[in-house]
Amino acid sequence: MFRHIDDSGPLTLGDLRADIVGIDTPVPLLDGTERPYIFLDNAASTPAFGRVMRCIADFLPWYSGVHRGTGFKSVLATDIFDAAHDVVARFVGADPATNTVIFLKNTTECVNKLANRAGLTPEDIVITTAMEHHSNDLPWRKHCRVIHCGILPDGHLDLAQLRADLQKHRGRVKFVAVTGASNITGFVSPVHEIAVWAHEAGAKIFVDAAQLAPHRQMTMLPDDDPRHIDFTALSAHKMYAPFGTGALIGPRVFFAQGEPDMVGGGVVEIVTLESARWNNPPHKDEAGTPNVIGGVALAAAIGVLEAVGMDAVARHETELLQYAYDALEKVPGIVLYGRTKDFAHKVGTITFNLDGKHNSLVAAILGVEGGIGVRNGCFCAHPYVKHMLGVTPEEDQRFTEEVLAGNKSNMPGMVRASLGCYSNEADIDALVAMLQRIQRGEYRGTYRQNMASGAFHADGYAPDVARYFRYHL
Ligand SMILES: Cc1ncc(COP(=O)(O)O)c(C=O)c1O
Repeated sequence: MFRHIDDSGPLTLGDLRADIVGIDTPVPLLDGTERPYIFLDNAASTPAFGRVMRCIADFLPWYSGVHRGTGFKSVLATDIFDAAHDVVARFVGADPATNTVIFLKNTTECVNKLANRAGLTPEDIVITTAMEHHSNDLPWRKHCRVIHCGILPDGHLDLAQLRADLQKHRGRVKFVAVTGASNITGFVSPVHEIAVWAHEAGAKIFVDAAQLAPHRQMTMLPDDDPRHIDFTALSAHKMYAPFGTGALIGPRVFFAQGEPDMVGGGVVEIVTLESARWNNPPHKDEAGTPNVIGGVALAAAIGVLEAVGMDAVARHETELLQYAYDALEKVPGIVLYGRTKDFAHKVGTITFNLDGKHNSLVAAILGVEGGIGVRNGCFCAHPYVKHMLGVTPEEDQRFTEEVLAGNKSNMPGMVRASLGCYSNEADIDALVAMLQRIQRGEYRGTYRQNMASGAFHADGYAPDVARYFRYHL
């Protein structure tokens, strides 16, 4: 089993913050000063673990193309890269005897791969949800009829409707494609319960684990368990290993069948001018030279998360969420979305608006006056965000027309602050303090909105990027 030992002694959650690459990096503020960046955009991408960087540095002297080289470096690199697949299988609790792990670019590519490979016809049905990131919705729409399970007013999935849809279309539903955790509210879906209903209706379940895997212990469960997750996918860049790898996990027999959706080198056993014989999974679906470094980095990051323990990660994030909500609800005029007392079933994603202030304005002030990295807008989950905001169909129509006419200034949205396993109370305190300043009107800048992008920019904020990073060419 892959094990990279470069730091001796037991690892605790408390060690991780100091091991985050760039944790103290100063960033320029509008008033000309600098302050260490406060990274509250972990749901988009996390910074890297130092241990991941050190693992890659140790591996690079051994780096070589994998699978067909005869030299020692290629043999070693192949061994290490293949083992990274096993690390991922173990991390998501997949039986390695019956499942395969396919390394792709990210979760988006994984869902596209699965939808492309599922042999769907226009008569087939995939049930997804109105909570999904577009990456777990649009790929399915290309192939078959997609039914979106509705959302309750509080933002949770309407499980009764999901069940009813499954009953109604029993036998025609090929997949239930559901997010493991929402990138908007952080709500964790009851995926094992949904799996039972999906299996009863003759469907498979795919769990988009892009937001779940970095925050919670996952288990796909044994194949013969009715609660078993058939397929899942995750992104390494959300798991402290931002080197361009995603993993799709699913039954080996599924990927052994059918044609690969992308063909070329690596996917074949033997080729004649007339024919090609496909390789075994996962190679059949990893076309071209794979991202070896990305795979190694993902395995290293998983090693760190496992050493710390996903239970410890979940506990810490749950406590921090409680702390954050207690503090945030005291900010005058704040509207919190996906608020719940059930933090055990919510990952560290906090979405909000400040009454009367454009989400983009708030995000811009946080960035340039607070040095706080958040995100705003509709976060690639437009239907869900609009649901949470209570946008009416008429308003939606108007916003759509405006956007198509090149004006995003009125697009509705939210601000999102998202936690990582290394986030702490000081991060939350800084966010809350800035929000209070904003509400008291104590921000300094003059902000103007770009109608085409909808983004606000502060007059006079044009830091020299080259002072902070440039290529040494
Ligand atoms: C829930 C969810 N699914 C899928 C994705 C897509 O992930 P990626 O951009 O890594 O393909 C994201 C990204 O934010 C996400 O939050």
